[in-house]
Amino acid sequence: MFENETNIFICKHPLIKHKISYLRDKNTGTNEFRKLVEEIAMLEGYDALADLPTEDVEIETPIEKCMTPMVKGPKLAVVPILRAGLGMVSGILALTPSAKVGHIGMYRNEETHEPVPYYCKLPEKIDERTIVVVDPMLATGGSAVDAIDQIKKQGGKKIKFLCIIAAPEGVKKLHEKHPDVQIYIGNLDRELNENAYICPGLGDAGDRIFGTK
Ligand code: PRP
Ligand code: URA
Repeated sequence: MFENETNIFICKHPLIKHKISYLRDKNTGTNEFRKLVEEIAMLEGYDALADLPTEDVEIETPIEKCMTPMVKGPKLAVVPILRAGLGMVSGILALTPSAKVGHIGMYRNEETHEPVPYYCKLPEKIDERTIVVVDPMLATGGSAVDAIDQIKKQGGKKIKFLCIIAAPEGVKKLHEKHPDVQIYIGNLDRELNENAYICPGLGDAGDRIFGTK
């Protein structure tokens, strides 16, 4: 489903592209927008988690005992970057219902476009978990880089970043600052505009998910 270039995975699945087109449409309302974000997160997450480690455990079927694989180790951590990342959490939890959820609060300063962090709470044993950071938009990359800095400071090691739309500028920055992080992208858009919005993009993801503005 994804084309991989050294930890940068760009989606090529027609169904994801189709759903992203509805997200872009300015006439798509809050309710439909939210559902689409959730569905795209689940579809991207399914492929992004294909390398989760498993271990064989003994199970007794109605016929006989057998050794069969189950996901290994402490449960996954899903970490949305607030606010817009919250819209993707339920999609990932649909795949791994017992995952733990952390939160990183951050918004962009409207003039400098630099991230302003205001909250961070991560699940315990974060160093042992696969961590899926979710945010629909990777624009300048400032928010993603700062969020992953915070996660690494608290011991996080195996980190995947899932977004729906990315600008080339943000992908470059995130990959340069955190080359070990696997970046999953629904669509790579053309560029940022003078306000650091993604073009053609979908506008302000937080406002469209929560119906603010
Ligand atoms: C949006 C988006 C990302 C960030 C991306 O959040 O959800 O977190 O911008 O931009 P960057 O790559 O240039 O850092 P925003 O600052 O609008 O906050 P909100 O989700 O609370 O509205
Ligand atoms: N944040 C958004 O929500 N949209 C953009 O295009 C850029 C940053």
